[in-house]
Amino acid sequence: MSLIEVDKVSYAYSDGSLALRNVNMKIKRGEKVAILGPNGAGKSTLFHLFNGISKPKSGIITINGLKVCKKNLVKIRQMVGMVFQDSDDQLFNSTVRQEIAYGLLNMGMSGKKLEDTIAWALDVVGMKGYDDKSPHNLSGGQKKRIALASVLAMKPEVMVLDEPTAALDPRGVYKLIKLLDLINKKLKITLIFATHDVDTVPLLADTVYLLDKGSIVMGGTTEEVFNQKELIRKINLRLPRVAHLVEILGKDGMLNVDSLPLTIGQAKEVLENHRGS
Ligand SMILES: Nc1ncnc2c1ncn2[C@@H]1O[C@H](COP(=O)(O)OP(=O)(O)OP(=O)(O)O)[C@@H](O)[C@H]1O
Ligand SMILES: [Mg+2]
Repeated sequence: MSLIEVDKVSYAYSDGSLALRNVNMKIKRGEKVAILGPNGAGKSTLFHLFNGISKPKSGIITINGLKVCKKNLVKIRQMVGMVFQDSDDQLFNSTVRQEIAYGLLNMGMSGKKLEDTIAWALDVVGMKGYDDKSPHNLSGGQKKRIALASVLAMKPEVMVLDEPTAALDPRGVYKLIKLLDLINKKLKITLIFATHDVDTVPLLADTVYLLDKGSIVMGGTTEEVFNQKELIRKINLRLPRVAHLVEILGKDGMLNVDSLPLTIGQAKEVLENHRGS
């Protein structure tokens, strides 16, 4: 059984604009899924349905067999941790410590376990020592890490991250990718993240759904989806930079490859094989 099933889901905002059209997805436990789409595609709208912030106009979302609806909201929110696109929508406590403690206290955690969990979450995101700072006085990237720590502390089954790399510097992006990979492997947390950062997707996702104008236009492995060059470009996205470079070298007759590399590591292999041939 899939951990998450999105079945014929549509959503319209109150002004009538149809933001999601008949979306179908099946996500397995432990998967790392990218929802890749341009601005206005419907990524954030879809994410708001995952933990019941909004309700579909039609269709059903189930998580672990449980329908996302008002009646199940407490259980759903224990299973699904959401990291918002804008950290200011997420952080509302006056200290970092309180921010991370908030959900844990609601779960009934206290004493040493509470202190240890807060310390662990801050350590994992590289924000040790920031306990007494106000989240509002942090930089954008630091806010993102605290938002991540507050969700991680709850040890959800699924983490839904809306544009997780958007506020981060290059080193921060690198560290976040490593961190999310670790979270997925060690804590067995299923990851779903929305992005239009095509260079990051191959480093993290094993499955990609392309979303455009509220519709899923393709779903498949990262390799399958990036193989659809025309489709990617048609929806105002692009190939990862290394893939584009190898594509150009291929057109110039300097390289001959069956499938384009998507990461620097894959590109290095292509070049080494080419030199060897
Ligand atoms: N509160 C709202 N009322 C009406 N329409 C909205 C509202 N919020 C979003 N929309 C519309 O719904 C569509 C999907 O928006 P959404 O925010 O889900 O896109 P997105 O893929 O997350 O884009 P981005 O990459 O810019 O974050 C857009 O056309 C947007 O204009
Ligand atoms: Mg968005």
